[in-house]
Amino acid sequence: MAKKDVEEVVDGKMVDLEDLPGVGPAIAEKLREAGFTTIEAVAVASPQELSAVAEIGESTAAKIITAARKLANMGGFESGEKLLERRQSIGKITTGSKALDSLLGGGIETQAITELFGEFGSGKTQICHQLAVNVQLPRDQGGLEGSVIVIDTENTFRPERIVQMAEAKGLDPKEVLKNIYVAQAYNSNHQMLLVDNAKELAQKLMKDGKPVRLLIVDSLTSHFRAEYVGRGTLADRQQKLNKHLHDLMRFGEIFNAAIVVTNQVQAKPDAYYGDPTRPIGGHVVAHTATFRIYLKKSKGELRVARLIDSPHLPEGEVVFKITERGIEDK
Ligand SMILES: Nc1ncnc2c1ncn2[C@@H]1O[C@H](COP(=O)(O)OP(=O)(O)O)[C@@H](O)[C@H]1O
Ligand SMILES: [Mg+2]
Repeated sequence: MAKKDVEEVVDGKMVDLEDLPGVGPAIAEKLREAGFTTIEAVAVASPQELSAVAEIGESTAAKIITAARKLANMGGFESGEKLLERRQSIGKITTGSKALDSLLGGGIETQAITELFGEFGSGKTQICHQLAVNVQLPRDQGGLEGSVIVIDTENTFRPERIVQMAEAKGLDPKEVLKNIYVAQAYNSNHQMLLVDNAKELAQKLMKDGKPVRLLIVDSLTSHFRAEYVGRGTLADRQQKLNKHLHDLMRFGEIFNAAIVVTNQVQAKPDAYYGDPTRPIGGHVVAHTATFRIYLKKSKGELRVARLIDSPHLPEGEVVFKITERGIEDK
């Protein structure tokens, strides 16, 4: 039997296949068994496909698809009022550094992709760990009382580091670890698939009253870079990366979660004032990420963060530090 508990959240309400007009338990069952587990999956199916798997007429299938598109709010227009309402639900997560928070206009935003990029050791993974702790804080302390999903591609997630950071905040490290769900991505295809799994987990956690408010992909680009080498495969890689980023963005919108991705770039001193983003990910990442933070090593525990081409925030840079306690002001 296909799982019945695959439901979706649309505009903050739980919906499932049976909410589509014309879809009763029997048709829903057939759809789920054929892999159409979400409204979104139905919305992008063709009438022929759906009619075959659900054993219904094509015109009925077409009607179901239209309803699914409406329900999933795909390809439709949204009123300015609705848009404002959605924008007002945006939450912000403190980074642990007031200077860095103010650079970002208050913290890492939900319903947006934030890209942390910089050379090896610049603090990308440390910031990810810190956010995984901080998002669990009460709202008056800069958190969103949310849980966290981590897609770890380089095997650099360390629960021990979470324990250190949680203790520094006076939190119970065991409780903090319970709310962080980590999966290793073995290759780029697996990494993309994990976003679907993350959706299912997030739906379950929302029902349990532990909504996911942060999804981390550390690193976004390492598998793609390793697997797609050479000119001929570049377009293919960019297309896959583009789809992956849009899936992530959609996750952020559906669950009102912050999406934080990392991207390693080679240190090139002259590139800092030119285009430090050129080497990896290319324009696909640059155009999809809402906030892009360039991290640079400085003396000892000090790091420099610079906000790059943000549409509504002034460019600038700040200094913070990484200590045993985590991310802090210098
Ligand atoms: N427990 C710790 N205490 C203090 N500093 C740490 C600790 N763990 C990591 N760091 C600092 O973080 C750096 C690694 O940063 P990291 O986020 O892993 O880099 P990357 O950008 O490659 O992901 C280390 O070089 C060290 O300066
Ligand atoms: Mg790292």
